[in-house]
Amino acid sequence: MFIHWGLYSQAARHEWVQHNEEISPEEYRKYFDHFDPDRYDPAVWAAYAREAGMKYVVLTTKHHEGFCLWDSAHTDYKAPNTPAGRDLLTPFVEAFRAEGLRVGFYYSLIDWHHPQFPIDHIHPLRNHPDAVEMNRSRDVSRYRDYLHAQVEELLRAHKPDILWFDFSYTQSPKYPQFEGKAADAWGSVELMKKIRSICPDIIVNDRLEIGGDVITPEQFQPTSWVTRNGEPVVWEACQTFSGSWGYHRDESSWKTPEQLIQLLVNSVANGGNLLLNAGPTARGDFDDRAVNALAEIADWMEMNDRSIYGCTASPLTAPSDCRYTTSGNRLYLHVFNWPFRHLQLPGLAGRIEYAQLLHDASELHWAEPKQPFGQGNMLVDQPDDTVVLKLPVEPPPVRCPVIEIFLKQ
Ligand code: GLC
Repeated sequence: MFIHWGLYSQAARHEWVQHNEEISPEEYRKYFDHFDPDRYDPAVWAAYAREAGMKYVVLTTKHHEGFCLWDSAHTDYKAPNTPAGRDLLTPFVEAFRAEGLRVGFYYSLIDWHHPQFPIDHIHPLRNHPDAVEMNRSRDVSRYRDYLHAQVEELLRAHKPDILWFDFSYTQSPKYPQFEGKAADAWGSVELMKKIRSICPDIIVNDRLEIGGDVITPEQFQPTSWVTRNGEPVVWEACQTFSGSWGYHRDESSWKTPEQLIQLLVNSVANGGNLLLNAGPTARGDFDDRAVNALAEIADWMEMNDRSIYGCTASPLTAPSDCRYTTSGNRLYLHVFNWPFRHLQLPGLAGRIEYAQLLHDASELHWAEPKQPFGQGNMLVDQPDDTVVLKLPVEPPPVRCPVIEIFLKQ
């Protein structure tokens, strides 16, 4: 589970609201002054995540707006100084660990609040008439010291399992007066060294722009194992319920339960993980739409998680509208669009020991090549390597039915 939560949750119209509406730090202060998550109970969030089958969480400790959820010694722009009046991170870490989830921290490299962060083409002040002038007194190396100190502070306090940095960018041709920011600006090499020395086993994502342990395609579904420079990589797709990452009251582009489950299946079928985002309200609740979506995922996982955990891509090509995942001698066929009575499975001739629907362990029969199948013992030409799996006409009452195939050892 990805969680985006910060001052932008109050604006409730995208976590980039400060950029989108070019809101100055002074004006944005109203959210800081009114941030009062009176219903915040991370144990509730952690229970949602566990019930939906999630194994780890990544929380925005600081997003681009620069606001910190923890009691950082390096800034006043933090939750304890808002009406919230307390560190919101420590109880979060405790609650998720208590539910058995691994805990990751998202940390925005970008900071629209820090006075030393040079204005660039995505900064809220990019069109300010004095922006270039203002940059004369901004020193990226001083911001870099802050960034390094904060990351160190987070690591020492909580020993997180994952660090999820966001993000690097090149100069924009539309704003030639500003530079982009990437590895040099962040001091990525040095930062990575420090991270590894404090937390040797931590997983760090790829957005420091010096590689990383995991590649992070965003709001995009790979259709094969993700590669970089021709080599397969460890990858994790991040996805939203509705497009925005922060709580968005008026967004109407919510994905259906089928779409969400298919995102999960498709990620595993192509060798990756899914990091699915929820944006809690500024009072600290998951809204009904998020709760319903998570409940659907929880229901599906309850009956089908065997096709997800410990599974990865299969070398076999799945029939159209289907995805394979596999673990050991089990092959899991996920059917996105239930066909009429038969599924043709290339490459499986002579290899199936047993087959069943996963959710109710009900047996399925199949025909080997040249064996009759269908009504009236009809015999049609079949490729030599292809078996025909026989399905009930009525689609199973499952958002995404899974067929579990036991392969001969
Ligand atoms: C983007 C956005 C950001 C979001 C992130 C999640 O990079 O800047 O708002 O946090 O994607 O991957």
